[in-house]
Amino acid sequence: MTTLNDEVQTRRTFAIISHPDAGKTTLTEKLLLFGGAIRDAGTVKARKTGKYATSDWMEIEKQRGISVTSSVMQFDYDNFRVNILDTPGHQDFSEDTYRTLMAVDSAVMIVDSAKGIEDQTIKLFKVCRMRGIPIFTFINKMDRQGKMPLELLAELEEVLGIETYPMNWPIGMGKEFVGVYDRFNNRIEQFKSGDEDRFLPLNDEGELAIDHELKESPLYEQTLEEIMLLTEAGNQFSKEKILAGTLSPVFFGSALTTFGVQTFLDAYLQFAPAPQPRNSTVGEIEPNNDDFSGFIFKIQANMNPKHRDRIAFLRICSGKFERGMSVYLSRTGKPINLSSSTQFLADDRNTVNEAVGGDIIGLYDTGNYQIGDTITTSKEMYQFDRLPQFTPEIFMRVTAKNVMKQKHFHKGINQLVQEGAIQLFKTVRMEEYLLGAVGQLQFEVFEHRMRNEYNVDVIMERMGSKITRWTEDQKVDENLHSTRSILVKDRYDQYAFLFENDFALRWFQDKKPDVKLYNPMDSE
Ligand code: G4P
Repeated sequence: MTTLNDEVQTRRTFAIISHPDAGKTTLTEKLLLFGGAIRDAGTVKARKTGKYATSDWMEIEKQRGISVTSSVMQFDYDNFRVNILDTPGHQDFSEDTYRTLMAVDSAVMIVDSAKGIEDQTIKLFKVCRMRGIPIFTFINKMDRQGKMPLELLAELEEVLGIETYPMNWPIGMGKEFVGVYDRFNNRIEQFKSGDEDRFLPLNDEGELAIDHELKESPLYEQTLEEIMLLTEAGNQFSKEKILAGTLSPVFFGSALTTFGVQTFLDAYLQFAPAPQPRNSTVGEIEPNNDDFSGFIFKIQANMNPKHRDRIAFLRICSGKFERGMSVYLSRTGKPINLSSSTQFLADDRNTVNEAVGGDIIGLYDTGNYQIGDTITTSKEMYQFDRLPQFTPEIFMRVTAKNVMKQKHFHKGINQLVQEGAIQLFKTVRMEEYLLGAVGQLQFEVFEHRMRNEYNVDVIMERMGSKITRWTEDQKVDENLHSTRSILVKDRYDQYAFLFENDFALRWFQDKKPDVKLYNPMDSE
């Protein structure tokens, strides 16, 4: 009989962090193909472009026209059940993208070999770093001419400040791409995807063990030299460091041609952690604890005014979910029945009957839940650690169009802020309302929902991007406020400054060293 612990140990839950166009959709699709979760290549891609809808969930997205979702894809492979959480990028980038990273146990970072580390990757990486979760790197598009591999490694280490260990190493690239020298499996994998004879064994000296034309190639010679360099001067492999998130195993491949994807997946499953214990108000909750528990990391409102219901995304942390079970909402102590209210996401099966730690379920929400809420069957009604506050980068000044609607305006803003849709600040001088977001989409959702759910038209005035730094000081001299360093209070009444740019921030730090500023997203 399989126990709860056996079940939990099969779960691997991760998100892909990357910059748009690095190949996230392509890699996801290839992984799903291996797992047999989809049959045709092009399925995920079509979803991205809005041509594909299988479940009700997709229907909701389709009706709304825009996708704010971090949907979940699940597949079984080699006795594992893998959950991939999508992190929306492009114009859909929002705090939800960050929050999704709170619900995973590891992350896969895709880097375009020609572009190296890009903006969005850095932002998402920082959040993973904050949590100390393992980060696996896939350097993609080796079938194209890109940066030199050693240069890419140096960039990873310098820009992201993480140690790396190349699990394999490219032999040539672009038109001359021959394959990878697989240090981990002690073989060469030739760039002939799908062919079983693509593997060539290495001997104890790390050289080709059989006669092969590759031995004559200058690219092979060069690779052996680079491997020697990596062995002598590079980092040691360390499972402990991988699990602590301080060393990233690096894989080279080409998602489009399915090259190196399976090799990556096999190693990923070997080293990625199963669901981990989560900290709560009563200490750590183990995933094999019999009490069911989980936390809401995202709430998606339906943009169709005819359908007011929302979907709350729950990451299961312990116990087993069963349809119709009764749970407590820890924040209020209120009992809730999870009867017909659940749905597996992005899956043909609309309803879920059973799920365990690591899995994600969608709960229909009529306004019960807030982001960060814990639900559990335990009478102790503990709560998991609060989700962190993310640093907003763009701002809007907001007022109600119709002054007679002030009451609705305040109610709407307060609820949307509490729900985590957007962040609210008030200027200390004028008590103006400023909204902060990490992506433009958050403002659009806010405006839309204020109109549709609270019947208030708002005036949004662009303030552009700002650098937000909080201070723990309980008292701040109001004269420090200026147009270049706007003094505000957040919704917890904590002081923060919105700096016009880097220069303004540095100038302020120089002039006012006593005011201690911090960015919650800097882990150090
Ligand atoms: P994203 O989800 O990270 O935004 O990236 P996506 O997978 O959509 O890939 C972005 C582009 O890069 C796509 O080309 C895709 O075909 C290409 N690509 C992904 N992996 C590889 C690879 O290993 N090698 C090469 N050469 N290209 C790769 P596109 O032309 O923008 O897409 P489409 O017009 O074909 O849809």
